[in-house]
Amino acid sequence: MDTSTYKSEVAAAFNSAAATYDRLGVEFFTPMGRRLVERAAPAVGDRVLDVGCGRGACVFPAAERVGPEGRVVGIDVAEAMIEEATKEAALRDAAMVELRVMDGEHPDFAPHSFDVVLGSYSVIFLPDAPTALARYAPLLSPGGRLAFTSPVFSDDTFPFLPPVFTELIPRELLLDLPPQWQPEQLQQRFNSWLADPRDLTRTLERCGFQEVTVVDEPVTLVAESGLAWVDWSHTQGMRLLWNHLAPDKRQQLRERLITSLDAMRDGDGPLTIETPVRYVTATVGN
Ligand SMILES: C[S@@+](CC[C@H](N)C(=O)[O-])C[C@H]1O[C@@H](n2cnc3c(N)ncnc32)[C@H](O)[C@@H]1O
Repeated sequence: MDTSTYKSEVAAAFNSAAATYDRLGVEFFTPMGRRLVERAAPAVGDRVLDVGCGRGACVFPAAERVGPEGRVVGIDVAEAMIEEATKEAALRDAAMVELRVMDGEHPDFAPHSFDVVLGSYSVIFLPDAPTALARYAPLLSPGGRLAFTSPVFSDDTFPFLPPVFTELIPRELLLDLPPQWQPEQLQQRFNSWLADPRDLTRTLERCGFQEVTVVDEPVTLVAESGLAWVDWSHTQGMRLLWNHLAPDKRQQLRERLITSLDAMRDGDGPLTIETPVRYVTATVGN
């Protein structure tokens, strides 16, 4: 699969998910985005770039921090995400927020335009993330900060999902996936540098960053039920998996997941999963 086909598929998946993305009552991206912004700690007046901003899980917490004197620019390859985030910015009267359709691998900004670059669960979708990250370094002012999140995964996990979910997905249901969408292929092609903190640190240093920190911390994912989780999974990266499964396998996986997730609930209580998230921060060299 060439890079542009992959990117179009990713954009199409998030365009069709945008209307309900992070709005199905499942808590995950919003608390993660808020936590990432806490870690990056933009100050009043700072200029922030959020790469792969989606509907604004980081944009709006960042806007609260930088205030009217600051600026928060959210970019995303999916136009429908940008439309939803733009509506939200208007509702909040957030004049310091600017949203643009832009490929995160080709950020079109002048050098030193930002004090902080963020990317929550978005860097994992960039086909050549290290090259993109190297392009963010010159966009930062001296001492500027990079902060992003990713799943905590290993080489055999489905690339866009935390391992706990990969463990619930029977491998035999994935055998019919086209080769280029097999978890191992995607993982090795795009995200293997994120699995080991030492590789990650070395990669960021080569990209022009220093003082790299890698902290794994859980986000408490809460969904009303297994069914609610499965419906939600169609609105995030797992949509790429659903899209490539044959209808019978899709149905089998749906049933298997609902059963195993409901078995993890405490009676009729909600499904609560402590989901490890990797928070990476770094500063740019002067
Ligand atoms: C899982 S969502 C995360 C969105 C948001 N950061 C959040 O935390 O809710 C991944 C986002 O990355 C965007 N994305 C994927 N590839 C991209 C690219 N090449 N350039 C910009 N955005 C991209 C998707 O469209 C999607 O909105």
